[in-house]
Amino acid sequence: MDIHPDESAPSEPAGSKNNRFWHWFWITMVIIAGICLATANVPAVGAEVGGFWHNIKIHQLAYEAKNGDWVKLDIPGQYQINAIHATEFHSTVPGWSDGLLIMAGSGNNQTFFNNGTFRTIILNPATGAVKNIPTPWDAFCAGHIQLPDGNILIAGGTARYEDLDPVYAAGAMTVVNTDTTRSITLPRGTIFVSPKGVEVKTAFELTIPAARAHTSATGVRTIVNSQQDVWVDAVARGNGSVVANPARYNLQIPNNLVYGLGTAMTLQKQNFLGTNDAYIFNVSTLKYQKINSMNYARWYPTLTEMGNGMVMTTSGLNNVGQVNTANEWFNPQTGAWTTGPQHGFPTYPALFLTMGGQLLYTGSNAGYGPATPAWREPGIWNPYTNKFKALPGIPDPNMLETSASVLLPPAQAQRYMVLGGGGVGQSNLSTARTAIINLNSPDPKWMQGPNMAEPTRYPITVILPNDDVLVTGGSTYYRGMHNSDNRDTRLYDPSTNTFSWAASSITGRDYHSGGILMANGTVVTFGGNPLFGDPSDSTPQTFNHEIDVYMPPYLFTGTARPAIKAVPTEMRVGHSYTMLATPGTGSIKSLRLMKPGNPTHVTDVNLRSIAVPFKRLGGTAYKIAIPNSSNLVPPGWYMLFATNTHGVPSIASWVHIQ
Ligand code: CU
Repeated sequence: MDIHPDESAPSEPAGSKNNRFWHWFWITMVIIAGICLATANVPAVGAEVGGFWHNIKIHQLAYEAKNGDWVKLDIPGQYQINAIHATEFHSTVPGWSDGLLIMAGSGNNQTFFNNGTFRTIILNPATGAVKNIPTPWDAFCAGHIQLPDGNILIAGGTARYEDLDPVYAAGAMTVVNTDTTRSITLPRGTIFVSPKGVEVKTAFELTIPAARAHTSATGVRTIVNSQQDVWVDAVARGNGSVVANPARYNLQIPNNLVYGLGTAMTLQKQNFLGTNDAYIFNVSTLKYQKINSMNYARWYPTLTEMGNGMVMTTSGLNNVGQVNTANEWFNPQTGAWTTGPQHGFPTYPALFLTMGGQLLYTGSNAGYGPATPAWREPGIWNPYTNKFKALPGIPDPNMLETSASVLLPPAQAQRYMVLGGGGVGQSNLSTARTAIINLNSPDPKWMQGPNMAEPTRYPITVILPNDDVLVTGGSTYYRGMHNSDNRDTRLYDPSTNTFSWAASSITGRDYHSGGILMANGTVVTFGGNPLFGDPSDSTPQTFNHEIDVYMPPYLFTGTARPAIKAVPTEMRVGHSYTMLATPGTGSIKSLRLMKPGNPTHVTDVNLRSIAVPFKRLGGTAYKIAIPNSSNLVPPGWYMLFATNTHGVPSIASWVHIQ
């Protein structure tokens, strides 16, 4: 499973003997795989990638030095997983300095959900180490983020699967407690009865606090009822249990102090329901631990770190399948969740922390929510005052769903790019458009960027240490339909605003896929959840378990890599430190602090690459200056990369910034 230079060989020059051994080992494997293509369960990949001679060509050094190269990781069967979510973590546990936490939960598989089969693995792609991690809840479609201490917060997930064609009428109910003397707990399955005798039962246990009595200064006593929302299903199948209008329901076991206010009970599509469970993946123990639950259940929420380390948690479907307009804060120091401002965003909204301390909503999202401009238009949102200033004019504004957004490197330039996307829901519309907005400009406006290779939903974007952005994967149609997975891979250069070709990917990656830069400078791609596996959309497809590694061109230059020999592990914004480093070939040209990757559902809102000014002091000593802005450098662990004048990056040193 060793596949490329690992962390124990930090000054390994690209093209060295050891590196070349593994390189040719894998190339040989890939060629064998290519020869076996006719019999293996590998989708046809078209003229670009097929063919024996093509395989020879794309693994020649000159080709690789220009385009990079891909290899497949060999993951043993018991560790293969529906890689819905993944996040990179740094641990002091030996062997896990640069790990990937890959979370499936139930993995978009109702049978796994029904059986309570929830899964997670941790993987170190550089060593091949892999472990199953016990997963106590359904993390499928949670939000996740690296906290300032390096632990991973995972918030929300799935409480119940959607039902596209229900046979039991169902809907949301608000259960009201008017009893000022006590809270009440209703077990799952508690029956309420409509005025016309339709029986419905609660899908979850719920506890409603006691009502509050309030006596004013003039002696007037008022009672404030307490209430909780819960999903209810009809007890009897079919049309007879449809209740067309909202109604007041009574408990079947008589209790005058508690009643239900039911919405219409219908046989329409029932959405996924979210959970308010929240967990930490503790990077010291490599285990999950339960923490305080959120105030609101969330399925498809976005978690964005602010400059003070607080986490703004937005959107997601709640416990009755509606998009939350209530947002909330997580305080990593106290572990408390507190309600934030009300603002409606579609699910998984791409909300980035700007240098001004506000949040940029680029318009990227992953579905659910009204298709109206008030919900979909990009803009700057101030989560403290709840002011929202629209930034209109993005090209193809109706195709932001399933688009990707990335804060282009270096983060100081405050240029945000939106790539691809498609129409709302299962639409055949998709776009190759890219658009960029520069928030450093006094009057920020969307500018059209170069088009992608083809119209693409779910493009994977990964920032590289040399400031290129790898753009790969995705599909032209909704969830890879019509056999539309894209193998095109490009490197986007923000300094010239152009795409250049890179080696085509070897695996189709569409819905539920992603890519992450590792500390050794390679990129890992994972996931893919196509609906069908053939052009006529008749063969249902299973989740793609393959995990690939992309080695960018800079690993094939044949020149020596820079190496960071010593740098303080703990650093603070606005302070200067001494770093010892060697440039490899040439001299050191740039230093970048890069957040570990944490993408889900196309976008990684916390991903950023920050330029670190430096001055050579003489010999191997450099003075480096961490920028003086927590909104630019939010607290947490970063990978520090040095890149030389040949565009070759070092292996990263993990550093902790406060
Ligand atoms: Cu999803």
